[in-house]
Amino acid sequence: MKRRGMGEGNDLTGNGKGHAVQNRKTVLVTGATSGIGLALSREFAGKGYRLVLSASGEDRLRKVAARLEREFPTSVIGAICQDLAEDGGGIGLYGQVRARNIAVDVLVNNAGFGLVGEEISLPLARERKMIGVNISAVTELTHLFLRDMCQRGGGKILNVASVGAFQPGPYTAAYYATKAYVVNYTRALRVEAKKYGVQACALCPGTTRTAFFEKAGSRVPIWAMSASKVARIAFRGLERNREVIVPGVVNRLLQCLPQRVKLWGIAMLKR
Ligand SMILES: NC(=O)c1ccc[n+]([C@@H]2O[C@H](COP(=O)([O-])OP(=O)(O)OC[C@H]3O[C@@H](n4cnc5c(N)ncnc54)[C@H](OP(=O)(O)O)[C@@H]3O)[C@@H](O)[C@H]2O)c1
Repeated sequence: MKRRGMGEGNDLTGNGKGHAVQNRKTVLVTGATSGIGLALSREFAGKGYRLVLSASGEDRLRKVAARLEREFPTSVIGAICQDLAEDGGGIGLYGQVRARNIAVDVLVNNAGFGLVGEEISLPLARERKMIGVNISAVTELTHLFLRDMCQRGGGKILNVASVGAFQPGPYTAAYYATKAYVVNYTRALRVEAKKYGVQACALCPGTTRTAFFEKAGSRVPIWAMSASKVARIAFRGLERNREVIVPGVVNRLLQCLPQRVKLWGIAMLKR
């Protein structure tokens, strides 16, 4: 298993010293270098959290860590490079965080990607990687950090799913199914974790303006919401301990449509 830390330079510039800093909570954000993850990192840093950032692209992670540290001095206490598509990628990231003696108060499982196209024409290897990031790594990280949080008697987990979790998605079948897993998994363990003082919430964004679409092989729809707005709503929802957070009135209203209509609409849009 490949595990690459980014060295002491990212773990930081004496930021762990000082009483005020030590009282700050720490959030681990996966997929922190782009889109919703980057916006969530800004949101948490703006609220005084210390950040542990993670992604698989080392150069970009280094740049984003430096940029966030400039925007929010003393915020970035870790930048950990880990490919979550690898077998055991989530376990690898957990090990790297523990090796740095960092206690995570809030885990944000945001890293993920989608694939659009007819199931029979999508590359199976990419699909397996997607399942690795969207399901396996989310499960590993949630399992391991949840255990620590339960032992400490507190903590929060925000798992990023999608409105795609609420119905099957023709021409994006496996992606939507991964997000249905995330929502159901999160809602179930939320019940289990409550008695330990740990909260788990699922964030279900609708279409959001990020690099996601380009990577999935499609275009950003014009009605897409900004990632910063999604992050603001997500942070508030987590503070209020909402079980499922769906940013935007339109996204919430769309969930009231009959399943058949949604299925047909998605098929038309994604075909
Ligand atoms: N954009 C939307 O419309 C939308 C809607 C609903 C839900 N979502 C969900 O929101 C989350 C964030 O997506 P986004 O729209 O912000 O996309 P994005 O801009 O493409 O960001 C994805 C982030 O995940 C990281 N990532 C991807 N593959 C990874 C891997 N193998 N290992 C570790 N990190 C990996 C990326 O960094 P590296 O490539 O460097 O690793 C990047 O930081 C995803 O879970 C997505 O499913 C997005």
